[in-house]
Amino acid sequence: MTKVQVKEANGKLGILTVGVGAVATTFIAGTLITRKGLGIPVGSITQLATMRIGKREENNFPKIKDVVPLADLNDIVFGGWDIFEDNAYEAAKHAEVLTNEDLDKVKDELIAIKPMKAVFDQEFVKRLHGTWVKSAPTKWELAEQVKEDIQNFKKETGVDRVVVIWCGSTEVFTPLGEVHKTLAAFEKGLKENHPAIAPSNIYAYAAVSLGIPYLNGAPNLTVDIPAMWDLAQKTQTPIAGKDFKTGQTMLKTVLSPMLKTRMLGLSGWFSTNILGNRDGEVLDDPGSFKTKEESKLSVIDNILQPELYPDLYGNVYHKVRINYYPPRKDNKEGWDNIDLFGWLGYPMQLKVDFLCRDSILAAPLCLDLVLFADLAKRAGFSGIQDWLSFYFKSPMHEPSKIAEHDLFIQYVKLKNTLRRMIGEETIDYLD
Ligand SMILES: NC(=O)c1ccc[n+]([C@@H]2O[C@H](COP(=O)([O-])OP(=O)(O)OC[C@H]3O[C@@H](n4cnc5c(N)ncnc54)[C@H](O)[C@@H]3O)[C@@H](O)[C@H]2O)c1
Repeated sequence: MTKVQVKEANGKLGILTVGVGAVATTFIAGTLITRKGLGIPVGSITQLATMRIGKREENNFPKIKDVVPLADLNDIVFGGWDIFEDNAYEAAKHAEVLTNEDLDKVKDELIAIKPMKAVFDQEFVKRLHGTWVKSAPTKWELAEQVKEDIQNFKKETGVDRVVVIWCGSTEVFTPLGEVHKTLAAFEKGLKENHPAIAPSNIYAYAAVSLGIPYLNGAPNLTVDIPAMWDLAQKTQTPIAGKDFKTGQTMLKTVLSPMLKTRMLGLSGWFSTNILGNRDGEVLDDPGSFKTKEESKLSVIDNILQPELYPDLYGNVYHKVRINYYPPRKDNKEGWDNIDLFGWLGYPMQLKVDFLCRDSILAAPLCLDLVLFADLAKRAGFSGIQDWLSFYFKSPMHEPSKIAEHDLFIQYVKLKNTLRRMIGEETIDYLD
């Protein structure tokens, strides 16, 4: 097995979050608490998981972080952008995810994280009214300002490398248009203020132009457009998205393979959620919900392959609802009613009620993603990183390939990629 040449993680790693809201502050505070030894990063593969190396009889399961050259948590420096001026401590208080007791463990560090002014356009997030927003005559100049922000952050903090991760609100649904299809059309569109170029595209363009890995935690197109795939190849930059796979969709990508593996049929899947945080408020707008809905709906069809199994999956009624319900705050409740059928078509039902915590589930994904994206950059990987599909509801993939949604296949792919990076044999479980 030829070893991928991975540069050492020397120096500091800057992490810039676009959006300093519930997910971002829970991620940042949790990472700072962990590195002080005051909390356990539950849910993080990079920090907790082991990976088999070698043959089964060797019984060798080191921690991933002990064999893969990941950045150390002590070398991370945080920054970000938001449309509100609140520092990360104030924003975390507002989000009401972590207790005051936990936030106070890292209060000074959080207060020091003051968001930079955002690129924002009300047309793309109807429910928010930003007050801490950049202005410029063209979208091109806004992108230049974001590049300057990144360069200044590097200078001021002395970080050697940077990763950008979108933890901002879900933007309204924007179909892929001509302006997204080539880099030339996109750059022309930036200069001419094309209305289909969203703020998230502008951050992504700025980061990827500088060779900085960009991850997309929301379902917006952002880096999933041909113009950006092309730019990422040109600048040797890893990109990945879309939409963190945390609660209900994670369950779907576990339960659907179960049905299919056992050749059980499916006639309907109704999913509904109540959610009371700012994300829920944004998703209450039909335009933003549509983006989310597209992302949530693709999963079942992709896994069940109705074209191959018309008797089992040819007529599935799939519905997804998100209801904004303020009393629940970040503590989302997701119900699933699954109508399945077995031997000779006899019907059965499965009900799932997941009382989860949105940002508690998303924070470890952010940590893993930024560390893996930084690793990918040091390994010389560029373009779409589909080995990171494990983390996303709508995994980006090469246009010539189909997406892989099954959580456990995604996990095998992730670990085999890591094995290959460190010169170990990949594992096919035939030994
Ligand atoms: N389990 C999860 O929490 C989960 C799962 C999948 C996806 N997501 C997505 O992650 C994103 C963040 O979720 P959240 O709960 O933190 O939401 P949030 O509303 O608490 O935080 C989003 C932040 O982004 C800011 N923002 C909006 N537009 C911006 C822009 N153009 N530039 C900079 N900042 C901007 C908002 O002011 C807000 O502070 C959402 O898009 C959500 O759909 C979350």
